[in-house]
Amino acid sequence: MRIGEHPILTFPARRKVTFFFEGRPLEGYEGEPIAAALHAAGIRVLRESPVLGRPRGFFCAVGNCSSCLMVVDGVPNVRVCVEKLREGMHVERQVGKGDLLGAVAAKRGVLRAGGRGGEGGA
Ligand code: FES
Repeated sequence: MRIGEHPILTFPARRKVTFFFEGRPLEGYEGEPIAAALHAAGIRVLRESPVLGRPRGFFCAVGNCSSCLMVVDGVPNVRVCVEKLREGMHVERQVGKGDLLGAVAAKRGVLRAGGRGGEGGA
């Protein structure tokens, strides 16, 4: 659900983009927070807590806690309440503390090339 009209705020026109949540294509607006696009699509659980595996969603919504950490394009621990949405992003729920070796591999493009970083790959 999105607010389309407001008595004192205006919403500038933005370009619709497609991104992927756990492989499922969704639409959002370019430049909005990833979490806003997920909420608009009805997705409220953004991650699981590292110790007890409890569902977590928005808490501060301004990038000051760790409630919304997700894996974005293979990089864990991304605060999706402040990370801007771009065309073609791949977003996944994070379980636990995140795979840092996978993050390094993703930054180097290993995961995009089909390899598995941090598991004895290149
Ligand atoms: S909800 Fe607190 S950092 Fe995103």
